[in-house]
Amino acid sequence: MTKRRGLSWIVFFISVFFIMGNAIYVIYFSEEGESQTGSLLLEREVSVSAHTVKRANEPISPIRKPTNLNAEKVELGYALFHDPRLSKDDTVSCASCHDLFSGGVDDTKFSVGVDGAVGDINAPTVYNSSLNFVQFWDGRAKSLAEQAAGPITNPVEMASSWQQVVSKLNADADLSDYFIRVYDEKPNKKNIADALAEFERSLVTPSRVDRWLQGDDSALSPDEMRGYRVFVSHGCTACHQGEGIGGNIYQRFGIMYDYFANRGQIAQSDMGRFNVTKREEDRFVFKVPSLRNVTLTAPYFHDGSSETLESAVIQMGYFQLGANLPSGDIDDIVKFLNALTGEDLYR
Ligand code: HEC
Ligand code: HEC
Repeated sequence: MTKRRGLSWIVFFISVFFIMGNAIYVIYFSEEGESQTGSLLLEREVSVSAHTVKRANEPISPIRKPTNLNAEKVELGYALFHDPRLSKDDTVSCASCHDLFSGGVDDTKFSVGVDGAVGDINAPTVYNSSLNFVQFWDGRAKSLAEQAAGPITNPVEMASSWQQVVSKLNADADLSDYFIRVYDEKPNKKNIADALAEFERSLVTPSRVDRWLQGDDSALSPDEMRGYRVFVSHGCTACHQGEGIGGNIYQRFGIMYDYFANRGQIAQSDMGRFNVTKREEDRFVFKVPSLRNVTLTAPYFHDGSSETLESAVIQMGYFQLGANLPSGDIDDIVKFLNALTGEDLYR
């Protein structure tokens, strides 16, 4: 009898958590408008049913390796990614700011481009960028190929032009031949961007969390497991969910308290999505970043203001959820986030 009662309590609590989780989910998404809510839910269902998932009811889902990659394009993209000729004075490559051996970032608050020019927004990792629904913090590029044009012509990054880049690469006979073999044409804006994007699509990073999601109970330690549970129960997964553990919706930074008033010195880059749409409701709205490999990508936030993962988690709890997270929860969440580090990164 007592055993039974214990069991019904457990069932009761599981139901309460489930209902609370869904309520938080609905509250946040209703902010984005009805239509987006519907399509997001649909997207989640589709992504879950598209592959065999043991734990299909979790708000996060296992990563899928890309199936139809063209190996020659990936190889060409890798070479271009490391080629400083994509910059004005042959000094800066994509890898200068997105070091694959360093989590796909440059470990600085703001990146340094050609002639020592300093940007005003933190560089995200290129790992798993193919999972993002749009590229850049403000979502101004719809695809990776479209994104690639950004840094090449950005005056504080590579400060070049497509004309310059195309003519430099065409002057390299070996490289030009390689393009002809792969694309049947010499290097041009379209195939350079395409090869870079194909390479980036290869950068998905399965982690221990994915193994757990696929049913391997021993993949996570008890602390990491508890970290995941509090990550869900505090409502982090209202925004950081799906295959990327983020990267599939926009959200305001400072939902419960005003992050920007608190920090001060508001810059144009803090306007986020507003810079693209000019809609008042998009002020301070950003693409929710993926948390995969987040342990490797300090400092955090679009303004690079948070130096440690602990402090980023504390701020998220406060500004996004209105909670002062207990220190035990913070420690365990950080351990869970660490388990999202890919097991086969470039090292
Ligand atoms: C000087 C440093 C620098 C260089 C060089 C650079 N990037 Fe970036 N990259 C950044 C910064 C900073 C951002 C964020 C900009 C923003 O969101 O407004 C970014 C954003 C991105 C993103 C979007 C990721 C996301 O989560 O939204 C991708 C993909 C990317 N870069 C790929 C590349 C590629 C490919 C190249 C080479 C053609 C390149 N980058 C060159 C600094 C750099
Ligand atoms: C309401 C949506 C929302 C909720 C809830 C939320 N986040 Fe975030 N999170 C964001 C947004 C938006 C950003 C990007 C903020 C920025 O830099 O402008 C972010 C950024 C982060 C970052 C920094 C990532 C990086 O690469 O810079 C971490 C870490 C993070 N969140 C963890 C958490 C944790 C842990 C929780 C739960 C305690 C949580 N988040 C809850 C929306 C949310």
